[in-house]
Amino acid sequence: MDKFVIKGPCVLKGQVLISGSKNAALPILASTILFDKPVVIKNLPRVRDINTMLNLLRSLGSKIEFFDNRKKVRISKTKKPKHFASYSLLKTMRAGILVLGPLVAKYHKSITSFPGGCVLNGNSGRPIDLHLKALQKLGMKYEIKKGYIYAKSKGKLRGKNIKFPSISVGASQHLIISSVISDGTTTLQGVATEPEVVDLINFLNSAGANIKWVGKRACQIVGVNSLNETSYTIMGDRIENGTFCVAATLTKGNLLIKGFDPKIIKTELELLKKTGAKIKTIKDEIHIKGPQKIKKINNLVTKEYGGFPTDLAPQFMVLLCKANGRSSITENIFKSRFMHAMELQRLGAKISINNSKATIEGNTNFIGAEVMSSDLRASAALILAGISAKGTTVVSRVYHCDRGYEKIENKLKKIGAKIKRLN
Ligand code: UD1
Repeated sequence: MDKFVIKGPCVLKGQVLISGSKNAALPILASTILFDKPVVIKNLPRVRDINTMLNLLRSLGSKIEFFDNRKKVRISKTKKPKHFASYSLLKTMRAGILVLGPLVAKYHKSITSFPGGCVLNGNSGRPIDLHLKALQKLGMKYEIKKGYIYAKSKGKLRGKNIKFPSISVGASQHLIISSVISDGTTTLQGVATEPEVVDLINFLNSAGANIKWVGKRACQIVGVNSLNETSYTIMGDRIENGTFCVAATLTKGNLLIKGFDPKIIKTELELLKKTGAKIKTIKDEIHIKGPQKIKKINNLVTKEYGGFPTDLAPQFMVLLCKANGRSSITENIFKSRFMHAMELQRLGAKISINNSKATIEGNTNFIGAEVMSSDLRASAALILAGISAKGTTVVSRVYHCDRGYEKIENKLKKIGAKIKRLN
């Protein structure tokens, strides 16, 4: 298992180019199951979850051709599509479940393993009840045997009005994809409005789907018979972007971050300004300078889009460890979002957790130590802490990081971090 060895502290300066969004690319790739014609997807991030999804599509009968150093793919159908999504491919990645709906929509049957992914919900795992209940409403029948969902439908799925009882990014994406070639009209209420959901809709509409927003959290999907050939560029990764913005703020750095529309992360940028960062934005660039003294934030609360994203809570926790006093973060989306807090304590952080609230005493001078990543965003937080720590930090289990950050060590090295990968 690879490790990162980081020698700190470092001041990060220079330019960073943000990669394509993993969380936008995954549902877009899953939706290619609906197509008979070839699809070209550009700006794919070269991260492990994308490879896993492409392998899954290959196992289902798609032909994948790579261009432009694997950042561009052309996906087309072989003559014999399959409908079995194996445990070996879904066990590491929750988004794998997104092939279930399109397989049933297109072929009226599927055998799909329960998915894995980051363990962020304590003992309750990561449920998919919202996905399954809503797909049932479209006419999918299923039973669960030995960890697999055996699903089928009598012919096409049928459009329905569905109101999600709570907001889920994945379930929203799954139902949008599954309704595109259904019979009739589907109206979804309680839809997640994350930019990655919007990117999926833009992609599907570029291929002739008929999806429109009919309310703040409501979407109407009029079923079409088939989708056209299309070529689409995936949006930039807002979490990678946010991570580099925190890195600049944390290290008194000075970064020009390119390849991302700053309007999408207004909330995060406002928060970073509150901590003292100086930020200028122009079109698809963010120029961010870290302050000499980081200011605390009273109560940072994670929320659905528009609010502060749960996927940046770990990185902000590192930043607040170095703030000029006590801050807190309340996590509203996942129960086990703070698993890295214990690891940060090895570096000297003073954090106490009470249910969903983490209280972070500021003024920490991190001292390098050995730490272990527990999940994708936690790994990014530990790397950031290592960069700002005095001495050597070793971050193990960086396979979590490789799932979602494209060559993070190369990007960090370019801007002055002393980080190397040990195999
Ligand atoms: C997606 C993102 C993840 C991000 C999360 C919240 C991808 C690949 N992952 O995950 O990085 O942290 O959105 O922004 O895009 N829930 C249920 N039942 C369900 C589905 C979800 O109870 O059927 C719960 C979850 O356990 C969680 C909450 O709903 O507590 C939100 O989860 P959801 O929005 O579905 O997250 P993901 O789509 O898995």
